Amino acid sequence: MPRQLFVTTALPYANGNFHIGHIMEYIQADIWVRFQRMQGHQVNFVCADDTHGAPIMIAAEKAGKTPQQFVADIAAGRKPYLDGFHISFDNWHSTDAPENHDLARQIYCDLRDIPESEGGSLIARKTIEQFFDPAKNMFLPDRFIQGECPKCHAKNQYGDNCEVCGAVYAPTDLIDPVSVLSGVRPELKSSEHFFFKLSDPRCVEFLQKWTQDGRLQPEVANKVKEWFSVRSNPDGSTSEGLGDWDISRDAPYFGIEIPDAPGKYFYVWLDAPVGYLASLKNLLDKRGQDYTAYMAQPGLEQYHFIGKDIVTFHT
Ligand code: MF3
Ligand code: ZN
Repeated sequence: MPRQLFVTTALPYANGNFHIGHIMEYIQADIWVRFQRMQGHQVNFVCADDTHGAPIMIAAEKAGKTPQQFVADIAAGRKPYLDGFHISFDNWHSTDAPENHDLARQIYCDLRDIPESEGGSLIARKTIEQFFDPAKNMFLPDRFIQGECPKCHAKNQYGDNCEVCGAVYAPTDLIDPVSVLSGVRPELKSSEHFFFKLSDPRCVEFLQKWTQDGRLQPEVANKVKEWFSVRSNPDGSTSEGLGDWDISRDAPYFGIEIPDAPGKYFYVWLDAPVGYLASLKNLLDKRGQDYTAYMAQPGLEQYHFIGKDIVTFHT
């Protein structure tokens, strides 16, 4: 019996052209895919541009383009490299395509609308405080805030960690913070955010089983195990197990608008992995095959080639 294999490589962020790291991953995956095809197995091997988020929105503004035009121009430069390196993708799509908007919104609504009889919604709303750039009129991602490290006092460090002493902190811990976008001092402002309730016992139980049942390679499974335990870290801090995941960003944001929440968008890492499914669906639609039936095959095997720095988001 031929195996049914759905294979992906990480979706490249559409803020720049390919570099050797992208091509290396594609070649590794392509070798494996060609081997499976030679064995007579049926493979759908897909990728797409990862198009959303603040960095692309800001890069587009700098280039004097709309984010849509900016990512379209990046996409137009992909083909000569994929063809030139003989990467045998069956499809190349975009996380800004209609299939991805639909699938991401559907997955969100399914999680939001779980009835009380089945444990209730897995989406929560919480008001949080964040740095806001009053000149640019937008909330600032950690990477767009710089200041003095609260630990070693090195200047010009990013809002999430210090590149000099390695300390990890919140942007609000920085001394004399400035917005990288405008140079002004950011203000604290509160806003309602949507959270995926990863700390819910249903999620913890599911993920614990799912990650330890042999499907992941041992190195990855062992790393993942650490997230579930309450423990003390070598630097003296403690980790609390799985925390809820902040999945919303406020306008202005280049992304997918959250259903029934005007001005709120999915954080790019929510819709990016859904892009694997959107690219597959686009391929099957073009061939006149049924996406739902394909995904429902009990024997379908999914393989995601990724680098270890994005294991967290994929899990
Ligand atoms: N763009 C991300 C990166 O370069 C990878 C996204 S993979 C995805 O790290 F499927 F989750 F989209
Ligand atoms: Zn430091």
